[in-house]
Amino acid sequence: MSETIESILHEDRVFPPSPEFTAQANIKPEDYEALKRKAEADHVGFWADLAREKITWAKPFTQVLDDSNAPFFKWFTDGELNVSYNCLDRHLDAKGDKTAIIFESDDGKVTRYTYKELTDEVSRFANALKNLGVKEGDRVVIYMPMIPQAVIAMQACARIGAIHSVVFGGFSAVALRDRIDDAGAKIVITADGGRRGGKTVPLKAAVNEALEEHCGCVEKVIVYERTGEEVEMVAGRDIWWHEAERGMPDYCEPVNVNAEHPLFLLYTSGSTGKPKGVQHSSGGYLLNAIVTNEWVFDLKDDDVFWCTADVGWITGHTYVAYGPLALGKTIVMFEGVPTYPHAGRFWEMCQNHGVTVFYTAPTAIRALMRFGDEIPSEYDLSKLRLLGTVGEPINPEAWMWYYTVIGKERCPIVDTWWQTETGAHMIAPLPGVTPLKPGSCTFPLPGIDAAVVDEEGNEIPHGNGGYLVIRKPWPSMLRTVWGDDERYVNTYWAQFNNRYYVAGDSARRDEDGYFWIMGRVDDVLNVSGHRLGTMEIESALVAHERVAEAAVVGRPDPVKGEAIVAFVVPRGDVPEGAEREALIKELREWVSKEIGPIAKPDDIRFGSNLPKTRSGKIMRRLLRAIARGEEITQDTSTLENPQILEQFMQK
Ligand code: WTA
Repeated sequence: MSETIESILHEDRVFPPSPEFTAQANIKPEDYEALKRKAEADHVGFWADLAREKITWAKPFTQVLDDSNAPFFKWFTDGELNVSYNCLDRHLDAKGDKTAIIFESDDGKVTRYTYKELTDEVSRFANALKNLGVKEGDRVVIYMPMIPQAVIAMQACARIGAIHSVVFGGFSAVALRDRIDDAGAKIVITADGGRRGGKTVPLKAAVNEALEEHCGCVEKVIVYERTGEEVEMVAGRDIWWHEAERGMPDYCEPVNVNAEHPLFLLYTSGSTGKPKGVQHSSGGYLLNAIVTNEWVFDLKDDDVFWCTADVGWITGHTYVAYGPLALGKTIVMFEGVPTYPHAGRFWEMCQNHGVTVFYTAPTAIRALMRFGDEIPSEYDLSKLRLLGTVGEPINPEAWMWYYTVIGKERCPIVDTWWQTETGAHMIAPLPGVTPLKPGSCTFPLPGIDAAVVDEEGNEIPHGNGGYLVIRKPWPSMLRTVWGDDERYVNTYWAQFNNRYYVAGDSARRDEDGYFWIMGRVDDVLNVSGHRLGTMEIESALVAHERVAEAAVVGRPDPVKGEAIVAFVVPRGDVPEGAEREALIKELREWVSKEIGPIAKPDDIRFGSNLPKTRSGKIMRRLLRAIARGEEITQDTSTLENPQILEQFMQK
């Protein structure tokens, strides 16, 4: 058991919201009770009413939930809307001059966009896309730095009904190529490079490499000039963003699409080697994006909301690019990293931009906590009123630091449990209502039927751990795995006969019914809040000529949550001394090249074989124990070659 889970299990402090917070909250205790009652009495009607109230429909829906082909659920099926219209145009009359985006670059330059300016930018770029032949339903891969043009590109796709698939800029050329091919993308949007921590990220070079050998679906590459460094442009294929926009009118009529029309794909790791293209809808996705920003982040018109996630992840979709804009709020975007040029960067930015609601990952909190309390105390954080976390369980120590040192015991912390697949928050506190327990994501939101069940799918008594499932469909649920309906059913539904959505996490409820997430039950690691499949890393390793076999496991890490430990069986002799060091270095670089720097193993061990059972199954539990440096208590008598354990124990 990891230290995080260990300390979470001993947590019993409770922090109720202050009367002042509750008095101003969007959702007060009586509203919460009313929402819950309504959702329980009429699940479908509950979502239908919200959808009518929160979304501007071009054509209102008459059918709410279509479960005729479960688990392929559809919501608001005959309705039509445009997501970009909902995020931009509909605010223009009242809020055209309001700031939509405050952008701070890596080197500290600040740029602002009003809603009017952002709408024009999106429209112009949408026209450029149309001009290059992009049509409704075409896939567009976006591989960009964390700059406003990433959001502009996403919104422009939404405006013309193209399906975007954002690939995190930290993924390698190989990972990018797989995603481009799987999505069958017609266009890739990138930048010459990005800036992070004073260094250049060579995005265009990676795109060139990715497109060297691939299926040939890509017709055009649009390149935003960000760093001005020289890049190789391929004639006939590549075009600069500003040239693509030349002469384009700054209004583009939004294309109304069906509510079920895919808004985007987002690739995420699972238990096999191949990432899945999680497919999201337009109407249902937008609805949960809106209500969770309203309920959980309590967003008001004068708020300045900073979600630190990159748009390459689902958090950057729902809480940067779509949700807050659909509500007409002001967001902060940041290109750089939390510790550059100094460890007070986040707090300095909160101060300078008057951030009121701040949302980040436990790994960032833990990393910044290490620099001490003095650094945050140098900045004026008095505007902050609400804090949030996402991505992994937060250990109570980090929670308390966030609560006292950053929030000055004034700001509630919303610990939000959700996934790429769920589209939006599922289990999270309502900051004006829910008494908080450090480390618990508290309760399911109204309209979300989450439960902890046993192997048979029966709800289990509080206090015990089990599978986390969602028992009723919800609007922002994934619709399928792109191009692989079978995988959708097998991964998320088959375990309980298509009755429940299976999250892949284990959880426990305490005596008060609070949910505590215990971690993944599948072969997925959570490294600094990023999901990585162990099989994905293993396939990358065995693709190296010196590797015969590999097994990857996680080890608890005080900052990253989990660290990656790889057990490698080399072709030929197990290397020693300098040769060993060189191979370790080479394999780390190799994985970085195959997947991305986030997947680099922290620790690589060599042995002449992997520990296997008689039936040939890799004994992963044993490897986990070795990785953690624990004493081996398991029966190892079935091992063919017990010496290999000694080999693997060697660092
Ligand atoms: C984990 C990120 C504990 C969980 C939005 C989930 C969490 C996976 C929390 C999804 C939380 C996310 N507490 N664990 N508040 N939030 N997780 O798809 O294991 O990148 O299944 O989505 O992160 O990761 P994903």
